[in-house]
Amino acid sequence: MILTTGATGRIGAEAVRLLVGKGLPARALIRDATRVPQDGSWGGVEIAVGDFDQPDTLDAAMTGVGTLLVISPSVPAQEIAVIDSAVRQDVKHVIKITNHKATEDSPVDRRRDHARIEAHLKANGLTYTLLAPNLLMQNLFLVAPMIKQTHGFVMSAGDGRFGMIDSRDVSAAAAAVAAAPAGHEGRTYLLTGPELVTYADVAAELTRALGQEIEYRRVTPDQHREGMIQAGLPEPVAASNAQVFGLIAEGDAAWLSDDVASLTGHSPRSLRTFVTDHVAAFQ
Ligand SMILES: NC(=O)c1ccc[n+]([C@@H]2O[C@H](COP(=O)([O-])OP(=O)(O)OC[C@H]3O[C@@H](n4cnc5c(N)ncnc54)[C@H](OP(=O)(O)O)[C@@H]3O)[C@@H](O)[C@H]2O)c1
Repeated sequence: MILTTGATGRIGAEAVRLLVGKGLPARALIRDATRVPQDGSWGGVEIAVGDFDQPDTLDAAMTGVGTLLVISPSVPAQEIAVIDSAVRQDVKHVIKITNHKATEDSPVDRRRDHARIEAHLKANGLTYTLLAPNLLMQNLFLVAPMIKQTHGFVMSAGDGRFGMIDSRDVSAAAAAVAAAPAGHEGRTYLLTGPELVTYADVAAELTRALGQEIEYRRVTPDQHREGMIQAGLPEPVAASNAQVFGLIAEGDAAWLSDDVASLTGHSPRSLRTFVTDHVAAFQ
């Protein structure tokens, strides 16, 4: 049995769908049973209703599970609770979505959080595989309302290049490892799209797909943080986001890898494919 947490999220929902498509026994941990996709794509999936903050629900979901795909908002206490439950329930292999730059002394809080969770995973002797995606293309949905209203978006990543990846390819890599975990023990895979892009490239692809000029409005990380706070984001989240965009401007995410193709047997989707597939979300 393969259990996926964060199964209503971007990476998790598609991973569950792919596991079902491979004919594998799949279970999805979700908080709200009404969130099961209604399009039949989860046919045959066992649903475990549970919450990272309620360990008894995690133990129930983990019963009989051989492989765990752990996806969460990466709050250390929550993911550590999932790992502790996996230990109690004798799960054989844990696949974790993490951050490539996760170190205990990272200046970025979410990276320190992932490093803490990874350390806990390793300290408990669990067999694991780490999947570290570059920036997700699906993050662009966050600026879709601004694009619709103003024909542009604000960003503080300068001309920094990044190996942006479609979350569907993260899901595909996760499903491939979950389907056949042998040989992936203790490995870390870096997941990227096929090319390095900038936010100017994003604006150009949106312009092409929408048939209307979409402007990349460059701001400083400080201006960006203020804008995100005014838009309603909590101050620590806005500060952390702006910090990451500032690092991207300096080349922090300018890395590519072939790991998606070697894990899944197909090339990752390009930015153009993502924009074409999701053009309706931006118009
Ligand atoms: N965004 C990026 O560019 C990027 C890049 C690299 C790595 N990552 C990593 O990717 C991971 C996030 O993956 P994602 O984008 O697929 O996540 P997501 O779409 O934000 O979904 C989060 C999932 O966690 C579930 N969840 C939240 N709180 C929960 C709780 N208390 N109990 C049970 N489930 C709970 C949510 O359920 P509900 O639907 O009920 O809320 C949802 O299914 C993070 O670890 C992040 O650091 C992201």
